[in-house]
Amino acid sequence: MKSSFSLQQKFVTEIIEQNFDLSCFDKQNSFLIVDNYFKENQYENQLSTYISAMKFNDYDNIFWIEASEKNKKLETVLLIIDKIFTYFQGMVSRDMQIIAIGGGICLDISSFCASIINRGCDLIIVPTTLLSMCDAGIGGKTGVNYKNLKNKIGSFYPAKKVIFDYRFLSTLSLQQLRDGYVELLKTILILDRDFFLSKSSFFESNLRFNIFKCAQFKLKLCSSDLNDRYNRQLLNLGHTFGHILESLSDFKVSHGQAVYLGILMSLKYSYHLKKLSYIQYKRLHNYFFSVCGKFIFKYEGENFHQKVKTLLLSDKKVISSTLTLILVTDASIEKIYLNKDTDRKQINDLIDFIYDNLQLSKKEITD
Ligand SMILES: NC(=O)c1ccc[n+]([C@@H]2O[C@H](COP(=O)([O-])OP(=O)(O)OC[C@H]3O[C@@H](n4cnc5c(N)ncnc54)[C@H](O)[C@@H]3O)[C@@H](O)[C@H]2O)c1
Repeated sequence: MKSSFSLQQKFVTEIIEQNFDLSCFDKQNSFLIVDNYFKENQYENQLSTYISAMKFNDYDNIFWIEASEKNKKLETVLLIIDKIFTYFQGMVSRDMQIIAIGGGICLDISSFCASIINRGCDLIIVPTTLLSMCDAGIGGKTGVNYKNLKNKIGSFYPAKKVIFDYRFLSTLSLQQLRDGYVELLKTILILDRDFFLSKSSFFESNLRFNIFKCAQFKLKLCSSDLNDRYNRQLLNLGHTFGHILESLSDFKVSHGQAVYLGILMSLKYSYHLKKLSYIQYKRLHNYFFSVCGKFIFKYEGENFHQKVKTLLLSDKKVISSTLTLILVTDASIEKIYLNKDTDRKQINDLIDFIYDNLQLSKKEITD
């Protein structure tokens, strides 16, 4: 018989495409955490499908969450927990379930709450942004920021169900779509480079097809490596640089934009280390650029090198003083390791490289 520990670690996520059998919502002990965006006109938008599926809803069991990185903090988690305990008059039982409806910020915070209430309660997720459908809603990473450090407090806690309701995509802005495309393209690049590079087939296949392909792939990769120690790390392409930029901008730059620039930096760094040929580098750079567009990142603070060094070495992926960077080669994706004690020169070169390449997303590469 399996121990409860291994069961807890087991991946049980079921992903469902726009299937409105919402019987799982019809449960007395449900509590909703919903992105603030849907607070207004809630009866006219997609959210009403979910509200009306909840027989026992009395609108006091909803926590409306402001989706900002500044609000992605432990204090918000405590406010949610307070509201849940107040709503259930202190009787929060093991069979209670959290239903989270929103973008990545809402899902990360809600999933963290689900992972710690009664040491874990049921979690159902309805991602509402492109980025959260392709990435944040899949794979069980939960968490909040600690001061200016990204996702430093969190857990691995896969949802029981993830429901893909593509109607939510219709209200996203162009920038929000671009943010999502970054993660979608990144995952498809890792999954299937031929498909990725045959640009026409990528764009000819519809967005739903690509989202679902991406989600299924991510789910498969995460199921065999929930704790992000092995191949799942490949999905962090662009994220080490991206998280640094988010922190440096004091979270004024969106996660999608930061990861976009992070991916361009990873491509150039791969070329710089001669892992990627110039032709491939240019092709991949221009591919991302053509979809995600121009984006200018300006660093106006002081002590760039010291700040970046601290951020680099406080990255969650630093284990035994060793930073793992994900790079792109002509044929695949690979990891390189930099030890903070033995590879000091390379780390300093890397920081110079980041400084020199902050404007990388300014234009296409031409010869
Ligand atoms: N857990 C993970 O594996 C994982 C993976 C990638 C990213 N993330 C996290 O996800 C977050 C970014 O998520 P995001 O890009 O979804 O952004 P977000 O959650 O910040 O949402 C962006 C904006 O879109 C609004 N919004 C949500 N749904 C909408 C809709 N259907 N129409 C119009 N507006 C809508 C929100 O209110 C918000 O203003 C970051 O905090 C990042 O760290 C987590």
